[in-house]
Amino acid sequence: MPTMNALKIFEQGMDLTAKTFSGMEDVLAGELSALGAKDITTGKRVVFFRGDQSMIYKANYQCRTALRILKPIGVFTVRDENELYEKVQHIDWPSFFTLKQTFVISASVFNSKMTHSQYVAQKTKDAIVDQFRNKFGRRPNVDKDNPTLSIDVHINGDQCTLSLDSSGPSLHKRGYRTEVDKAPLNEALAAGLIQLSGWDKNGDFMDPMCGSGTLPIEAAMYAMNIPAGYYRKHFAFQNWPDFDEELWKQVKQEADEQIIEHDFPIYGSDQSYKAFRIAQSNVKSAQLHKDITVINKPFEKMNPESGKGILLFNPPYGERLKENDIISLYKHIGDVLKTKFKGYEAWIITSNLEAAKFIGLKPTKKITVYNGPLESRFLKFEIYAGSKKAAKQ
Ligand SMILES: C[S@@+](CC[C@H](N)C(=O)[O-])C[C@H]1O[C@@H](n2cnc3c(N)ncnc32)[C@H](O)[C@@H]1O
Repeated sequence: MPTMNALKIFEQGMDLTAKTFSGMEDVLAGELSALGAKDITTGKRVVFFRGDQSMIYKANYQCRTALRILKPIGVFTVRDENELYEKVQHIDWPSFFTLKQTFVISASVFNSKMTHSQYVAQKTKDAIVDQFRNKFGRRPNVDKDNPTLSIDVHINGDQCTLSLDSSGPSLHKRGYRTEVDKAPLNEALAAGLIQLSGWDKNGDFMDPMCGSGTLPIEAAMYAMNIPAGYYRKHFAFQNWPDFDEELWKQVKQEADEQIIEHDFPIYGSDQSYKAFRIAQSNVKSAQLHKDITVINKPFEKMNPESGKGILLFNPPYGERLKENDIISLYKHIGDVLKTKFKGYEAWIITSNLEAAKFIGLKPTKKITVYNGPLESRFLKFEIYAGSKKAAKQ
């Protein structure tokens, strides 16, 4: 038997882990802190924290920038697959799910001589099914699409952490999208960008190239305190044997009671009729059609009314455009901002740094974020009515 130092099993699961995008760790830490999480520390694409059962429910329901919430159930050292197999069997798996239920394993491996995450997942699965077989003579099945229990194996060096995934499908899958057009932003990334911009909700919010409408929808949800999981039908923790339905209802109710009206207009616009129609359908599905105005217009035809607010958008990066076209698109963005959006603040996310130079305005902030695998910059431009000096005075 391994010693307690070598195999630590969490009875209460008070240590929790939230996964996110690179660049969003601090935003997520802030969200968790606002929910009352304790002992928050950040890592690479991850935030560690402590909390009770209700914190698992709250983090899943309310964190806009989390992708999944994990509950570690065992931490131990492993040097090879055989040791992994042996130590996985020290966990009492039938206390988490039954023979009739299904499971899935996802594995990630860093800095280890075990390089194949697939093989690590396979060994973990073997250890679990063999434990069931030895005890009951039968084994539960794997279901990749709709498992009762999702198990996460994370190996870094010789440290292995086994966790239960309390979310199930990634939390960016909010449940309001009916369709998507080309290159939609991930919902959790969109929510993170809105928070990174420091938007004070006090003025117009505009996405003049809104595609499927992700940014306006996430902006409205943020401004109105609509929980990130409001439209989602299910979280994996609802399958757990310790699921407390009363507590879950209470967490939901308390969060839903915070929903408020938002006083300023939120616009999403796109020159493509197809994108406009899809954005409209997504906005309707989120029941935000009274709060978001969706427009089918090119950027240069937009007419800002209040003279105050924020534009936040992701223009095409150029994968599908010729170089000359992408340069003239970014030049055009700069010209329209300078002529039509005086007094506004504009935030643009792009992975095309060369093209971004053609905007012709000096960014006052540059934040590195990742849009999927694409290293990108989130750039802030302040568009002054006169000179910068005069505007400041
Ligand atoms: C990368 S997509 C935006 C994706 C969007 N953020 C989402 O989450 O679905 C870029 C969008 O810019 C639109 N677009 C390109 N040039 C435009 C222009 N001059 N005026 C308005 N929309 C434009 C395209 O039609 C496309 O929908």
